[in-house]
Amino acid sequence: MKILNIVGARPNFMKVAPLHRAFQARPELESKIVHTGQHYDAKMSDVFFTQLELPNPDYFLGVGGGSHTQQTAKIMLAFEEVLQKEQPDLVLVVGDVNSTIACALVAVKMNIPVAHVEAGLRSGDRGMPEEINRILTDSISDYLFVTEMSGMINLAKENVPDERIFFVGNCMIDSLVHYQARARQLSYSAVLPNKPAIQDQSYVLMTMHRPSNVDFVEGLTSILSIIEDAVQYRQVVFPVHPRTLKNLENFGLLERFERIPNLITTEPLGYLEFLRLMEGAALVITDSGGIQEETTFLQTPCLTFRSSTERPVTVDLGTNTLLADLNPETVHQHMLEALEGRGKKGSIPPLWDGKAAERIADVFIDIFERKR
Ligand code: UD1
Repeated sequence: MKILNIVGARPNFMKVAPLHRAFQARPELESKIVHTGQHYDAKMSDVFFTQLELPNPDYFLGVGGGSHTQQTAKIMLAFEEVLQKEQPDLVLVVGDVNSTIACALVAVKMNIPVAHVEAGLRSGDRGMPEEINRILTDSISDYLFVTEMSGMINLAKENVPDERIFFVGNCMIDSLVHYQARARQLSYSAVLPNKPAIQDQSYVLMTMHRPSNVDFVEGLTSILSIIEDAVQYRQVVFPVHPRTLKNLENFGLLERFERIPNLITTEPLGYLEFLRLMEGAALVITDSGGIQEETTFLQTPCLTFRSSTERPVTVDLGTNTLLADLNPETVHQHMLEALEGRGKKGSIPPLWDGKAAERIADVFIDIFERKR
């Protein structure tokens, strides 16, 4: 059974790494990697291949940035050629980025079965490009692998037949479990060379990149006020996403940002470095999808600057709190709670145990045996 695994953007790499490893350990499965090139900077892509011990991709489509339509269309055209050549038995896509829907759609049009890992998540907010990608990908996938109970409920509501749905746990947490000990060995001075010293619990870790927060001057200005408040209590470590940096420049806010005392900024960090920082942080402030899950697993308090989440288990069981309103006053109260040790404690969701990719490999072997 030949499987083509798709990666495109930063959050895909840590999900595909354990899958590729699990598939390679099974003689019945042949596993290849296609990188669309949606993310292309060394710090957004190459470093993850090295640290997650992924081989060089079998195909690199080099599509780069552009509007959503341009990006999606370029991926589709380039991926069609790969499929014509490879004729795989299965295309596996993960998550909710433009590469996910683009490759799933090409495969389905060529009658090649599609597996979607991280299926069933719904924020209910169709203004998010990822929500559209999730809904469309699930509706055309043959095998849907689910990370949390809400996903099972959402797919049932959408009338996806039971036999297509598998509750397997979380492949991103597989990577975390696999690399946690290695990340702990990193010293903070190795994680942040030539920067002010930090220690466990001495800092708040922040990431912001979602268009709804950083593509508007009002959103970015509120974020700056929130950092200016936070640095009075703790150091703030902020690896800056390329989109956020561009917008700070475009809105004339870069100088104010760079002048904030006690703020340690860096380029996007590698996987191990960022994992080290999440585990040692007093608090994480983010608008990411995946970081909500990683902080839940690590039991680090997390404030997520979004009005909804497609990962409700991180709020119900985990350490995550959603803040829809970027009002610095509201954020201040939540921040102090967490910093004074009154933040959410939380527990680890079912099946987030480092073995999700193994379960997915078992499902494929089973399908393969039945088809023979
Ligand atoms: C994408 C995903 C988002 C995910 C995020 C993680 C979609 C719809 N969105 O958003 O779900 O949370 O990745 O980072 O797929 N850029 C660079 N270098 C790079 C990559 C991007 O400079 O290596 C620039 C692009 O040129 C563009 C901007 O950053 O101007 C945004 O990149 P893009 O791929 O469009 O989406 P993200 O915001 O990264």
